[in-house]
Amino acid sequence: MTWRPEPYRDRIALVTGGASGIGAALGRALAERGAEVVLADRQLELAERVARSIGPRASAVELDVRDAAAFERVASQLLARRRRIDLLLNNAGIGVGGEMDTYCVADWDDVIDVNLRGVAYGIQAVYPSMIRRGSGHIVNTASMAGLCTAAGHGSYVATKHAVVGLSKALRVEARRHGVRVSVLCPGVIRTPILRGGTYGRLNLDGLSEARLAQVWERFRPMDADAFARGALDAVARDEAIIVLPRWWKALWYLERLSPRLGMALWGSALDRVRAELEASGAKPRTAASAPSTVGSTS
Ligand SMILES: NC(=O)c1ccc[n+]([C@@H]2O[C@H](COP(=O)([O-])OP(=O)(O)OC[C@H]3O[C@@H](n4cnc5c(N)ncnc54)[C@H](O)[C@@H]3O)[C@@H](O)[C@H]2O)c1
Repeated sequence: MTWRPEPYRDRIALVTGGASGIGAALGRALAERGAEVVLADRQLELAERVARSIGPRASAVELDVRDAAAFERVASQLLARRRRIDLLLNNAGIGVGGEMDTYCVADWDDVIDVNLRGVAYGIQAVYPSMIRRGSGHIVNTASMAGLCTAAGHGSYVATKHAVVGLSKALRVEARRHGVRVSVLCPGVIRTPILRGGTYGRLNLDGLSEARLAQVWERFRPMDADAFARGALDAVARDEAIIVLPRWWKALWYLERLSPRLGMALWGSALDRVRAELEASGAKPRTAASAPSTVGSTS
């Protein structure tokens, strides 16, 4: 397959989590570059609104990535209609913010189901058709939390490390089939997930949105559309691990050089954030009081 000079022209792309944030921005950037985009999301109405704002190159479909059979259905319907899926962007994700001593079992399950199983189900549903055609590109959205020590949201960190690992393994395996695999590792991007997102949550009581936003501002959040444009450029170059904004690469480098130093840095950052949150009156939720059904299928 020729990926240049117009690597995305007339490509068929399926983007999970396409109703919001990075997924919506990837959809916009793909359509701008001539691709036909299907935005697949649990939030159908929002995905439809985003698709309408993009124009005739975009459409929306309801998909809960935790449902393997539903993923298969969406993929087969798209394959029946368009004959191929050139790009699968496994991007849907949620987080549960809070230290692990605040966690209940659902805080693990909800995040693993979306962030890890959702990616695996996407691969199960679409990869075989790419193998048959001998081409395609799978792009999984992980995170810097999948490359570096990152405390304060353990289930998220665990799933993002897993997504980086499975993406590297799949990239090596898929090469012989002509299928490419990349993993996106965003730093901090300005999207609703920073406020908990629709299906995620924060195990903290008494934290105002303004205070939370202040905490994130320190990490200089990148605009989602700028992220998407940079990410697509790197995907077109077939980069394996895509870190954006680029300055986060310094932290990744440090982590590889000395995991101990990485942990020490994040340890002191966590101490600072903990002290600030305490001073602002925010209180960690106890595991017993944490909701057990938010983000579940019900
Ligand atoms: N924003 C950041 O700073 C940042 C940093 C690193 C990684 N990421 C990752 O980027 C991806 C996109 O996140 P975002 O920042 O755009 O957040 P977001 O909350 O704006 O978007 C997430 C989307 O995923 C959808 N979604 C959630 N659960 C789903 C499910 N079960 N099935 C289908 N769709 C579902 C939501 O409806 C939403 O549209 C996630 O995987 C996230 O972990 C984000």
